[in-house]
Amino acid sequence: MNLSLPAWVYSNAEFFSLEKEYIFRNTPQLVCHESDIPEPGDYEAFTFLNRDIFVIRTTAGEIRAFFNVCRHRAHRLLREERGNCGNRIVCPYHAWSYSNSGKLAHVPYLEEYDGMSVADYGLIDVPFEIFQGFIFICLESDHRSIADWLSPIANELDLYRLPDVVSIAERTRHPVRANWKNGADNFIDALHVRVAHPGLNGLLNKTYGITAASNDVFRLEGQVKDILGKSELAQRYYECLPDVPHLPDSHQKSWLYFLVWPNLMFNLYPDQVEFMQFLPVDEHNSLIRYGTYALPDDRPAMQEARQLNIALNIEVGDEDMSLISSVQRGMENECFTQGPLGRNEIGLLGFARRLRQVLPVSTKAEPPAEGEILSLNLAMLASKDA
Ligand code: FES
Ligand SMILES: [Fe+2]
Repeated sequence: MNLSLPAWVYSNAEFFSLEKEYIFRNTPQLVCHESDIPEPGDYEAFTFLNRDIFVIRTTAGEIRAFFNVCRHRAHRLLREERGNCGNRIVCPYHAWSYSNSGKLAHVPYLEEYDGMSVADYGLIDVPFEIFQGFIFICLESDHRSIADWLSPIANELDLYRLPDVVSIAERTRHPVRANWKNGADNFIDALHVRVAHPGLNGLLNKTYGITAASNDVFRLEGQVKDILGKSELAQRYYECLPDVPHLPDSHQKSWLYFLVWPNLMFNLYPDQVEFMQFLPVDEHNSLIRYGTYALPDDRPAMQEARQLNIALNIEVGDEDMSLISSVQRGMENECFTQGPLGRNEIGLLGFARRLRQVLPVSTKAEPPAEGEILSLNLAMLASKDA
């Protein structure tokens, strides 16, 4: 019988530091879409594993990414998550100011800093890449190639014309008391939809399931069909969803979800698309962050479908947050070490297999002694390679 990942890997600080090194260090992270920062001075800030970054549109119209850290005394420069700083970024601590292309422009009492050249104290660039309009920051020079990483889903993403979408809702960030893997597990757990999401299950009329699972990509899909149950939102969405000219028949009624290992998701609906991330904070906490986008379409039926979709997904999101935090809590009870997985729990099986590949110490049912997890994992990796 197959067994799940052991509970200890969902709440162990040492294991979490391994994940940072072996899983997240070189994985690009999505910050926003080009269309989120259309005007000079528009920016979006992003924090990932205690590194504070922002992406910005410069006066020349370019996109740049910088550490959100002043070169003087390291104060955070841009305090809001999103905004427009005009052509100057002014540090709130001692008012050093930078151009929106990162050059240090003004230092109060400059004459007091013997021999200092402002040219040496511009903001520190963060490498980034743009994929289908989405801006990804890449904190390490040996980061994975985004094109390779997302290539298994690129053709299907193409259908949704992502470079042309614009934001249609506020950026959403939900802190959740759960390890990031509990978020990912829940996302690719197709079985719970029938039980724990009555509205969504009614909308997708029991068609929801996992349709593909490769090493890095999990694909889940359901079709909007005659509505089951009595969800008014689902019924109204079903009735008003118009034809979507750019999508093939197969995708006209499809609610399609991808999880790309480890923590990036795309939720693709006929009427709109979302990116979603489970951002690890520490071994017990994550931030669920998502953005909602769509192609310009003024048809009243489309506008209504989009609002209903958002309302339906708020319901689903609340249900999922409660599920995820309940599972986290359960796993922290010493009675639970690991549970059985059915052959039909394809997502959970695949995700566990992927984690075991990268961090073989996660095959241990019980946590190794404190201080030994790192060395044991190294030894297990070495014996795998031998
Ligand atoms: S820390 Fe930014 S001006 Fe001093
Ligand atoms: Fe769910």
